Amino acid sequence: MKSRWITLIILFLMFVGQQPVQAQDMNSTQAFYLVSGLLLVISILVLIVAIVVLQVLRAFYEKEIALKGGKAEVEKKQSWWGKLISKANDSVPLEEEETVILAHSYDGIRELDNHLPPWWKWLFYLSIIFAFVYLGVYHVFKTMPLQTEEYETEMALAEEQRLLRVADQPKSNIDENNVAFVDDPEALAQGKQVFTMSCAPCHKEDGGGGIGPNLTDDYWIHGGSIQDIFRTIKVGVPEKGMIAWESTLSPEKMQNVSSYIMTLVGTTPAAPKEPQGELYVPTPKETTSNDSTQVAVNN
Ligand code: HEC
Repeated sequence: MKSRWITLIILFLMFVGQQPVQAQDMNSTQAFYLVSGLLLVISILVLIVAIVVLQVLRAFYEKEIALKGGKAEVEKKQSWWGKLISKANDSVPLEEEETVILAHSYDGIRELDNHLPPWWKWLFYLSIIFAFVYLGVYHVFKTMPLQTEEYETEMALAEEQRLLRVADQPKSNIDENNVAFVDDPEALAQGKQVFTMSCAPCHKEDGGGGIGPNLTDDYWIHGGSIQDIFRTIKVGVPEKGMIAWESTLSPEKMQNVSSYIMTLVGTTPAAPKEPQGELYVPTPKETTSNDSTQVAVNN
């Protein structure tokens, strides 16, 4: 009885253990699910232990009653669950085993003629019914797709998504190596919008700085080129309170907000924070052009 429970628990833990969680790319939602999952597992374990303990107590109780009033008395006092279990097993009690023992003796070893336990037969009948349902659903009426068909649908869907991704590849391909200053008013307006919404709380609307450093001066902690700024925004400086925006902003948005920050350099904010970091002197080419050759020089 107990070993059955233990096997069940081990099987369950093995199943849970199959879903590995990588610590690096775990965000708060995943952490939430992990913690709730763990709590669920713990509650289930506690429940199982409680049931086992109750059953042990029950066994003592029934033994006590059997001593007083015999089998009939036990049956009368049984819970619905206990009744179901005895019905499902329908085993011959130890005292009555003589009634089912076979006459033949194999070197003194004798055999009981036990019938199949009812729960086993119920499963058997259920599997027969299930077979008919399965046959009907998958092969006769074809209401559900077969595995091959399911696979092909999924593959077609993935291909569709891949084509969509490839279609806007040039834009989502921007990274800290090929990012360039965009001089387009529309892009800068989007950059400003992102900045006002996501960055102003720490860097002030005019870039003058607050929790985060002043972005209008020529001093930069992490470098003042468009590539440096893009990289800082993308990977952040988490230990200093600057989030990595990679997962929130698209590469294009990060390029736009980086460009917008570059337009803030040299402006005079209302309450500028004192300069931090090192003086950054742009190479002359950088301010005038933003073609790829200049990017290569900068690296
Ligand atoms: C929660 C506050 C916070 C928010 C929001 C925030 N930042 Fe920052 N940011 C900081 C801090 C703090 C630093 C300084 C990091 C350090 O000391 O290394 C910083 C640094 C920077 C730097 C580098 C400055 C330098 O001197 O090298 C850039 C560029 C920057 N942030 C851009 C942004 C952009 C763009 C956004 C919005 C998408 C943003 N930040 C949102 C707190 C913030």
